[in-house]
Amino acid sequence: MEPINVNDYEMQARGRLHQSIEDFYQGGSDDEVTLRENRAAFERIRLRPRVLVDVSQCDIRTAVLGIPVSMPILVAPTAAHGMAHPDGECATARAAGDAGTLMTVSSSASCSIEDIAQAATGPLWFQLYIDTYAQAKDYILRADAAGYQAIVLTVDLPRLGRRERDLRNGFRAYQAKHIPDAFSGHDMPMSSASAEGGTVESGTIPEVVDIGDTLTWETLDWIRSLTSLPIILKGILTAEDALLAVEHRVAGIVVSNHGGRQLDGVPPTIEVLPEVVAAVAGRCEVYLDGGIRRGTDVLKALALGANAVLIGRPVLWGLIVNGQPGVRHVLQMLHDEFRLAMMLAGCPNLQSIKPSLVKIV
Ligand code: FNR
Repeated sequence: MEPINVNDYEMQARGRLHQSIEDFYQGGSDDEVTLRENRAAFERIRLRPRVLVDVSQCDIRTAVLGIPVSMPILVAPTAAHGMAHPDGECATARAAGDAGTLMTVSSSASCSIEDIAQAATGPLWFQLYIDTYAQAKDYILRADAAGYQAIVLTVDLPRLGRRERDLRNGFRAYQAKHIPDAFSGHDMPMSSASAEGGTVESGTIPEVVDIGDTLTWETLDWIRSLTSLPIILKGILTAEDALLAVEHRVAGIVVSNHGGRQLDGVPPTIEVLPEVVAAVAGRCEVYLDGGIRRGTDVLKALALGANAVLIGRPVLWGLIVNGQPGVRHVLQMLHDEFRLAMMLAGCPNLQSIKPSLVKIV
């Protein structure tokens, strides 16, 4: 059956991969409270539509850091697309470009920075984990040279969260650069490095010695010594850190709890968005990810002050089910749902999406 929404893609993606990979994609940390809340919190928000507004020309195009995009819906960085589809991030990048939007490429991508840039038909940001300074420097310089337009430093992963599904499966997060059998359901090889960066705390012996847990605000100066690309911080959840981010001249903030995969018990992102937006007061752009599954979720996030949202797992589901066309379709569905939601809410353009559009129950 042809999927008609993101949830259909989630259902159809089930059972197609080795169970341990599916669990890695789907799972959160500890009791997965934050993971569940990311969704539940959107359902607690009600919309307050206005009527008798001409919405016939409803326009959802926008720009992020000056980069024009077809919609305020971007692709979040997720690790190892090669596990979902043999074409990996190259397929995702082409799909995002076809949809007129921007992709954030993970530090733990299956394809190389250059190959993805070559395949891409739209703008790219590069998400950075710093496992060693030498490797991070290499990534930054290569991303800059390959035409990526921002560095997205993920700040919520000083260590990998306790992903208990992965612990049970013995899934020692691996560098999934060459896993040809992963998508056909065979047992996959495990190597020592983490698929999402960071030291794995699962066993008695830490498998990767890294410096992710030594990063500080000064790390931004180090990045700036290597590139003039704008810096975005991903994983901010408080007004206090949002203010520090502004003081440290970041170009953008992603309000994110890593899709419920890091510190369990932190609030759903949509709940903390207003305090971050208030603290920032327009001094940098603010994006949100976590639990976006519907056009109405995008509308709610924008009403509460986000410039744009990013989607993580839905892109992976599209990739698992149907590769590049699957991702393209997921993005198209969210585009169409969001535009329809705006029209039904009486919003002819993005500027007309105001906090008065939502009520939290
Ligand atoms: C992620 N996320 C992530 N974030 C990041 O900065 N670098 C990464 O490599 C990854 N890898 C990754 C793998 C998988 C399988 C998932 C599900 C998530 C987090 C991601 O960017 C984003 O914050 C969440 O996925 C957003 O939540 P939703 O849309 O998945 O609910």
